[in-house]
Amino acid sequence: MRVCIVGGALQGMECVLLARAAGLSSVVVDRRPDAPALSLCDEPVVMDPVTDPESFSELTDGCDFVIPACESRRTLDALVSTVEDGRLLFDPRAYAVTSSKLKSNRLMASLDVPMPLSWPECGYPAIVKPSSLSGSVGVTLAHNIRGLSGGISDVRALGDRPVIQEFVSGRSVSVEVIGDGLRSEAFVTTEVCLDPYYDCKMVRCRPGILHESEERLLDGIGISVADALALRGIMDVEAIATRSGLKVLEVDARIPSQTPAAVLAATGVNLLMEMISSAEGELRGSGPFTGSSVYRHVVFSDGILRSCGEKEFARVHSPRFEEGLFGSDLAITDYDPHADEWRATLIVSGNSPDEADSRSEAVTGRMLDEMSLDSFTDEGPEVL
Ligand SMILES: Nc1ncnc2c1ncn2[C@@H]1O[C@H](COP(=O)(O)OP(=O)(O)O)[C@@H](O)[C@H]1O
Ligand SMILES: [Mg+2]
Repeated sequence: MRVCIVGGALQGMECVLLARAAGLSSVVVDRRPDAPALSLCDEPVVMDPVTDPESFSELTDGCDFVIPACESRRTLDALVSTVEDGRLLFDPRAYAVTSSKLKSNRLMASLDVPMPLSWPECGYPAIVKPSSLSGSVGVTLAHNIRGLSGGISDVRALGDRPVIQEFVSGRSVSVEVIGDGLRSEAFVTTEVCLDPYYDCKMVRCRPGILHESEERLLDGIGISVADALALRGIMDVEAIATRSGLKVLEVDARIPSQTPAAVLAATGVNLLMEMISSAEGELRGSGPFTGSSVYRHVVFSDGILRSCGEKEFARVHSPRFEEGLFGSDLAITDYDPHADEWRATLIVSGNSPDEADSRSEAVTGRMLDEMSLDSFTDEGPEVL
C-alpha cells in the first residue's frame, strides 16, 4: 500500500513513522524543500497542491490513501476538492467545528462535557488562547487585568479571537477517537508533559494513567463528541485531570503528532492503520494492553543538552530514523557527534511503566556520557 502524506512538518513526521511501522510506502508532499518529513519518507515530493493541482492529482492517482498532515486551510480545501471522498482520510465537516475552539466549546457545552469555567466566572489566573490556532501558539496565563489585556492583544495580533477560561491544573491527558460516520471508538489514553511554553515535550503511554472511572469518562466524552460530529476519521480529546475531575481543553479532528507514536510504542496499536481499516469499513477498537512507553524531544545547542517542546524539535534538519540511538528503541534525529546543534525525538518502550521510565533515564545518562556533559536541563511550565 502507498500513502500520500500532505504536509512534512510534525504531523507529517508522525504519519511517516506510523506508515513505516506498518510497512506502507510513504510519499510526502510539501511546498517547502526543507520540510523535515521529506527526508524520512520513501518518496519526497516538493510540490504545492494548491498551485499545481494537476501534478498533485497525477501523484495521488497512484496512491491508495491521501492523508492531510497540515493545518493550512488553503491546502486542506485543495485536497477536499481534488481527492475523492473514500481515499481522503479527513473529515472536513468535523474539522470545521473543531478548528474553532469557540465552536467546539459550544458543542461540548451542549453535550454537558466538563470544561474549565469561562471568563468572567473563572476569575484569575485565567488562560487566554486563540480560538483557531493550534500547537499552543499564543497561549498565555493572566494573573491580573494587565496580563489579560496583554493576552487578548497578542491573540488579536495573530489575527484570531480569544478564548478566555479558568486556568486548571493537573496532569494533561489525551485520547484518540476514530469514527466511521455512524459510530466511533476511543483508543488509548496518554499523558502529555509540557515545556515552559505549554508545548508538549514528552508523552507517556501506559495503563493506569487515569483511574478506571475517569478513563471511561474520557472515552465516553470522546465518543459523544465524535458521534455529535458524525466523525469520519480521527479526532483527539485533550483534557486536564484536576482534583475536581476531568476538564476538557479541546478536541481536534485531525491526525495529531506525538501521541500516536507513543501509543504505538506502548501497545502496538497503529492509529494510521486503524484509520485505514475504518475507512475500508472495519472500525476496530483497542483491547486492554499492558505495555508502556516514553516519547520525548531533546535539543543540543550552545553546549547545553535540554528537553524541548515539539515546536523546537520541528527545527530539526533533514532528520532520519535511527534505531538504538543512545539505547532508545527509535529516534527521529539529525544527531551528529561533531555538530554543535542537533535535535532528537527519543522513544523507548517497556513491559511496565517503571521499565519504560528507567530506560528513558538511561538514554539521558548515555547522552550525557557520550557527549561528556554534566547536566541535562528539563523545565516545565510555571507552577502556581
Ligand atoms: N484552561 C486551561 N488551563 C490550563 N492550561 C491550559 C488551559 N487551556 C490551555 N492550556 C494549556 O495550553 C495548551 C494549549 O492549549 P489547547 O487548548 O490545547 O490549544 P492548542 O493545542 O490548539 O494550541 C494546553 O495543552 C495546555 O497546556
Ligand atoms: Mg492542544
